[in-house]
Amino acid sequence: MTSSEILRLRLSRVLDPELGASIVELGMVGAISVDQDGHAVVNVALTTTGCPLRAQIERDVREAALSLDEVTSVELFMGVLDATERASLMQKARTIAQRSAPQTSVPFRAPVLMIASGKGGVGKSSITSNLAFALAQTGLTIGVLDADIWGFSLSRLLGMRGEVAARNGKMQPLERAVGRGRIKLLSMGLLADEDQALLWRGLMVQKAVAQFIEDADWSDIDYLLIDTPPGTGDIAMTLSRLLPQMGQLLVTTPAVAAQRVAARSADFARKSNIRVLGVIENMSGLFCPCGTRHNLFGEGGGRALADELGVPLLAEIALRAEIGQGGDIGEPAVLHEAGDGVIHQLAQRILSDVAPPIGAPGCSARMLDSIERAVGALA
Ligand SMILES: Nc1ncnc2c1ncn2[C@@H]1O[C@H](COP(=O)(O)OP(=O)(O)O)[C@@H](O)[C@H]1O
Ligand SMILES: [Mg+2]
Repeated sequence: MTSSEILRLRLSRVLDPELGASIVELGMVGAISVDQDGHAVVNVALTTTGCPLRAQIERDVREAALSLDEVTSVELFMGVLDATERASLMQKARTIAQRSAPQTSVPFRAPVLMIASGKGGVGKSSITSNLAFALAQTGLTIGVLDADIWGFSLSRLLGMRGEVAARNGKMQPLERAVGRGRIKLLSMGLLADEDQALLWRGLMVQKAVAQFIEDADWSDIDYLLIDTPPGTGDIAMTLSRLLPQMGQLLVTTPAVAAQRVAARSADFARKSNIRVLGVIENMSGLFCPCGTRHNLFGEGGGRALADELGVPLLAEIALRAEIGQGGDIGEPAVLHEAGDGVIHQLAQRILSDVAPPIGAPGCSARMLDSIERAVGALA
């Protein structure tokens, strides 16, 4: 195979986030080449210009191309499909949609964000719970899956307890109203006691996580946040197989050592074709009442990791006693956040740019489809 054939094959793993099908299969990838020096040129044509999903497609294409050893740089040209190409794309999208019935109840339009890190204790669960609240406060329904089978903590952090009911053979996530929105949770903490879960090993854990996706009713959520145990490739693979739209938010502390560990998990994610959407630095200094910032856990790790991966640094969350205290009483700090508002800003970035709710007006290939059909019906 030539380098450009390999590149095309690799690009075929990039999905159009809205149509859920490969951009190569959909006919969105035009001419591509890789020269002697490893410089790749890729032409991609979108259904419409100026949509928030464009950034994601660009990022995914770059990432997929750079994941090849022979590619060192990528030049990307983004164009727009003409009317005929668009019609043929929609035809293909319909065929693909019929062929691949969804395996899970998670709506394809719901962005899936896995909160990951190389090591434990960096604040993944705290960030998941606070972010879930901040997103729910905007009026959305946020699914939260606690995939940390051994170290589950989200039922405590979110203040949610109770029996998981089954309806039509599906587990019904527990619900809690938050502002105008809702949180829906599934966690091992709701099903088993800690000692029981501890007996589980490898495959059983993966199976339990798969069941939380396959045998649960997530049908009305707008986002799914997945909290994970540290450094677990197997679970990430299981999840990305079931939820191809999944992207990762990598959490690190400012320490250089932590950043190295996080970089390893990013590397793994990339090899498994899981998108890394951004970096969140947690425990970024402690502000004393006198106003001085103390960098207890070092400095610059989040920025360095984000730069290394070529993804945005989405937030720097300071050490704040309220974060620990909020978790203890099941009322995430963000609920009462009078402080720096950093979690709300993170939520806003996710909503507007990093993983906007799919179907946002002005950028919908599906909308285009319905317009074409409506116009067709008139003719
Ligand atoms: N920004 C923060 N400020 C203060 N305490 C924090 C912060 N982030 C996390 N913690 C505390 O650190 C500990 C580990 O956090 P946790 O969210 O459980 O990490 P992980 O899920 O990565 O293992 C918890 O006790 C939590 O309350
Ligand atoms: Mg945790």
